[in-house]
This record gives sequence, structure tokens and C-alpha cells, in this order.
Amino acid sequence: MLTKEVNERLTQTGPETPGGKLLRMYWHAIAAAEDLAKEPVQPVRLLSENLTLFRDLKGNLGLIGERCAHRAISLAYGIPQENGLRCAYHGWTYDTEGHVVDMPFEPACLPLKIKAYSVQEMGGLIWAYLGPDPAPLLPRFEGYAREDINRGVLIKPLPCNWLQCMDNSMDPVHFEHLHGHYGNYFNRKHGKPEAMLTPPHLKIDFDVFEYGIYKRRLIEGETEDCDDWTIGHPILFPNTLVVVGGAWGGSYQIRTPTDDTHTLHFLYQFRYIKDGEEKKPFNVRHDEVRWDQFGLAIGDGVIPQDEMAWIGQGPISARTQEHLVTSDKGVILYHNLILENIAKVERGEDPMGIVRDPDINEPYIPIRHEGVAREGFARVDRQRGSRLAGAGTATEWNR
Ligand code: FES
Ligand SMILES: [Fe+2]
Repeated sequence: MLTKEVNERLTQTGPETPGGKLLRMYWHAIAAAEDLAKEPVQPVRLLSENLTLFRDLKGNLGLIGERCAHRAISLAYGIPQENGLRCAYHGWTYDTEGHVVDMPFEPACLPLKIKAYSVQEMGGLIWAYLGPDPAPLLPRFEGYAREDINRGVLIKPLPCNWLQCMDNSMDPVHFEHLHGHYGNYFNRKHGKPEAMLTPPHLKIDFDVFEYGIYKRRLIEGETEDCDDWTIGHPILFPNTLVVVGGAWGGSYQIRTPTDDTHTLHFLYQFRYIKDGEEKKPFNVRHDEVRWDQFGLAIGDGVIPQDEMAWIGQGPISARTQEHLVTSDKGVILYHNLILENIAKVERGEDPMGIVRDPDINEPYIPIRHEGVAREGFARVDRQRGSRLAGAGTATEWNR
């Protein structure tokens, strides 16, 4: 159980909050580049700030304040120019650093500037940095930076704080209950075959590494040399779960904090291109949470069940009322890691995982991961004579 103050410290995203200052030390995924190609000016809300994302006619990216300095219309109505973004109302034009560079009708262009942040493209996504200068490097984790990859993303807004998604990723035991027992109950209610019978967890453990945490589990029917126990499942601090399926590729679940009570979820999927395969265009899809007649999120599948758990804790989880137990050791570890890194930022130090050395970042940062865990679940299920839906094809389990 946390105090109200500690819960706020962990969950607040605004520029003057301790948590918001920590999150501002990292680059955040804010949009798909392909969407920006179709609609080159977009409103963005990130870390409780309203902003305008645009690409000018020269191809430069800009992320500037929400409102025009003249009479405050939203710049999301703006028109891309060679030299920046022109306000739709009276034509004032902003460069990518937020300077007004043109004021039609006026005798001279006044030296005005609105806020502007660093923005880059990597792996088909647009990334923003809202923290102090000098900005760290945008970390080139392999799924984003490798060339021999086909990629896609599913973007979904969620009405809850980002940390609820991360708490869930630090909680291996929920898999057998939420996705196994609840999933089967849901399917029975809807006249569908049971989805899976998940083996019980025997042990869980966690290791902090340079870029985050590995969560490890041992499930019934597996031995301790199984790589789900010896290596585990990486979480990149502060807001990305890595789900890797072995030689074929994997996915990153990026939980971008929109504000204290909303998250933009990027399910970023990548497939290694094998000999003879073609490079495919980046595939962007958008989705929304589906709700039942009571306003409850519908948990009809593994990821919707996770969303149900995140959203079901309310806009900001009432951690002042919870009772953390032995299965929550990963959640406790993660909260402590956030608090430690908030303290580092308050001391003027870099928090964990910040990359400033180009030699580390190029050509990409590999992430060590388990490879057979999913097959392990399938194998154990087969031994138990049960059926595992989509075994061998279900690739996006948020375990
Ligand atoms: S409000 Fe933008 S130019 Fe007038
Ligand atoms: Fe899950």
C-alpha cells in the first residue's frame, strides 16, 4: 500500500512533477510516420502538454506549442511550408524551433518564439524528447533500427495511467489467471471453446539490467535450464515491454504517457526478413478499446484482457488501498526503480538507460531475450491434454 504522495510521484506526468521530470529524460513514440505522410499536421498530447506535430515541405519534423502566438488558434489547422508551419488564421509562420519567421501584413516580423521540442523518426515511428538539453540519443533498439525487418504498428488510446500497463508487465502470475481462467470463463460465456489451460507458476524472479528489468518465471512442467527462467522477458525502462517470439521477430509494447489518466499504446511488431522475402511497407493500424453495456472493457483475447486489467484499475490505480503480496515483488521492484530514478534526476544525474555514446547506439542496441517460452507454454499445455489457442501463431502475449 502506498501513500497518496508516493502514488502521485509515480504517476504524474506534468512538467513540474517529479514523475514528469523523469519521463522527460526519455524519448517517446508519439505517432506513425506513415500517418504524418497522409496528414502532415497533427495535434499531439504528450506528458500533459498539448503540442503540434508537423512535417514541413522540406521534410523537416517540428513539434511546437499548441497555439499560435497571435490570437491563439490551434496550430493543428496549420499549413506546411518550405520554412515551417503557417497558421491558418492570419498566416504567421513558425519554423521547427518555434520562431515566428513570417508575419504577413505587419511591417516587420516580431521576434516571437513559442515552445518547440526535439523530434526524430526511427523505425517508422515519430519520437519526441521534452526534457532538458542536451538531449540524449534516441536509443536504437534492434526492433526499431535493424534494416532487415518488416514492421507494423497498432496504435490504441487507453483511458488510464501508463504505469498500470507497466505494473501488469511486471506481474507474471496474472498470466495463468487473467488469460487462462478468466479467458476460459469469457469464452464459455460466449459459447466458444476454452482458450487455454495455463500451467501454474512455480517461481518468479527479476533482474535489473542496464536498460530495464528482466522478468523470469518457472512454470510447472519446465526445468530450471529453460530460458524463460535463465534469461527471461525484458522490460525497457520506463515504458516498454518487449515480447520476443524467437527467430521470427517480436514486438514492443510502448506505453506513451499522454497525461496522468491517458496512455497511447503502440503495439509495434517486427519480423526479420528471411532470404527471398520482400521488404514490405510499414503497416499502420488504429484501434479503440471495445466496451460492453456496463461500460466495461471487453476482454476477448490476451491483449484485450490486459487492457481490461489496466483500465479496470481506474484512471489512476488506487495504490493507497492495495495489498501487495509475494506475487507482486516485480511491481514493488519497478516502483522502487522509478523512485530511485526520480531521485537521480532530482540530483541532476541521468536516470537508467539513457544513451549518450554513439558507439553504443550504432548500428543498433541488441536485446537479449528468451526464445522458447511461448513454446514452453504450448508444450506444457499439450502434456496436460488441453488446447492452446493459436499455439505457434499467437505472437503478442503480454505475459
Ligand atoms: S491566430 Fe495565428 S496568425 Fe492569427
Ligand atoms: Fe497479460
